[in-house]
Amino acid sequence: MRNFITIEGCDGVGKTYQTKLLKQYCAERGLDNIVFTREPGGSDIAEQIRRIILDANNSAMDDMCEAFLYASSRIQHLKDIVKPALEQGKIVFCDRFVHSSYVYQGIARGLGLDKIVELNRIAVGEYMPEFTIFLDLSPQDAFSRKGGADQSDRMEAVDYAFHAKVYSGYKQLIAADPDKFEVIDASGSVEQTQRKLREVLIKRGILK
Ligand code: TYD
Repeated sequence: MRNFITIEGCDGVGKTYQTKLLKQYCAERGLDNIVFTREPGGSDIAEQIRRIILDANNSAMDDMCEAFLYASSRIQHLKDIVKPALEQGKIVFCDRFVHSSYVYQGIARGLGLDKIVELNRIAVGEYMPEFTIFLDLSPQDAFSRKGGADQSDRMEAVDYAFHAKVYSGYKQLIAADPDKFEVIDASGSVEQTQRKLREVLIKRGILK
């Protein structure tokens, strides 16, 4: 879907912060046709689902239940935020989308990539991103940079082996469909990563 861009990466790579900097950059230049949003959540009902998913007290949650909750949150968020914005001719940046489900639930949780691709095909239909930015930093480097995983976040608190599978899962998806991804090395400073991110968006004709 033209003008729908998603941003992916392992926990702790600075994805959310980079998106915030990009948002500031666009606001300073008066670019008001750009919407920034995130998953899971991003709209009222979807944020309520997010709280259930990430609540550290819900450690007994079944993996397939988790996969369906992410998909449910996605359906609502598409309806409330993404579709209306695209219909109004806006550009939408979404912090995480289906590729997170493919790697976290399909690959790292081991539910099966095909099954999770199918679930999300039902959830999003034609609303697939034009391309996906992948902020590339291993979970080991990401967690050591931010001083360890956040134990109050049910997903972040899963063991290191899980996050290593997430990282290699992303690499697998990128290798299978390289034209759909822009891989950005996120091992440098915040400013360096932001510069690379803007360069990619200029190259793709999203920013001038
Ligand atoms: P969040 O605190 O937003 O993490 P981040 O800032 O790294 O995006 O929590 C989102 C968590 O949910 C993160 O661990 C990734 C995970 N996730 C999935 O497992 N599947 C999904 O489909 C999505 C959207 C996120």
